[in-house]
Amino acid sequence: MRLDKFLCDCMLGTRSQLKKEIKAGQVTVNGAAVRKPEQHIDENLDKICYKGQTCVYEKLVYYMLHKPAGVVSATEDERERTVLDLLGDERREDLFPVGRLDKDTEGLLLITNDGALAHELLSPAKHVEKEYECHLAKPLEEEQKIRLEQGVDIGEKALTKPAVVHRIDSQKITLTITEGKFHQVKRMLHAVGNEVVYLKRLRMGSLALDLKLSKGHYRRLTAEEIEGILHESLFRRNK
Ligand code: URA
Repeated sequence: MRLDKFLCDCMLGTRSQLKKEIKAGQVTVNGAAVRKPEQHIDENLDKICYKGQTCVYEKLVYYMLHKPAGVVSATEDERERTVLDLLGDERREDLFPVGRLDKDTEGLLLITNDGALAHELLSPAKHVEKEYECHLAKPLEEEQKIRLEQGVDIGEKALTKPAVVHRIDSQKITLTITEGKFHQVKRMLHAVGNEVVYLKRLRMGSLALDLKLSKGHYRRLTAEEIEGILHESLFRRNK
């Protein structure tokens, strides 16, 4: 990998900033100053120091973002602000959001460069739980609740898988589903004769939105959170 990319992935600054610092002799590879940003290094074998500090390379990184409304769940977009724009300039170039939340949906979004984990979490066969807080246009009738719990026709080949519904108040519920069809929650509520007016994802598998994380903010996952989702994913793989 190129030296400037390596340093960028270590979150030490923007690519252009780091190129200048490399040229200024601030970076050593195995003890010798290297002034070429394009120099190739082996991140597993070479000892890279930046301003005298040894750089530790993390191959896989995981972030929790509290997605606000108004940004799109994409890596890039010509017109709209994306969830990756919220991570700022110092973000690694290989990051992507795990699945999509609609532009107006808020809440938990996992951002990573771990393609294998993303596949596990998104695969329809794996039935990973996704829990949403939904605010509704009208009070949820008992009959609507029962239909959501049994599975509804949203125009796909099969009915949706049974959902778990908890009432918060007459027009607020939490809905837990194990699929991830396009606009699924909104389509399910529409199918039973109600409408979603606000939607927020609270949880994906064992990973719950940190309630201390305000909208638009992000943080690295803790070691326990990473272990939790990787462990679940391993468990599903062996099932
Ligand atoms: N279901 C929806 O309808 N929208 C989302 O953003 C997520 C799930």
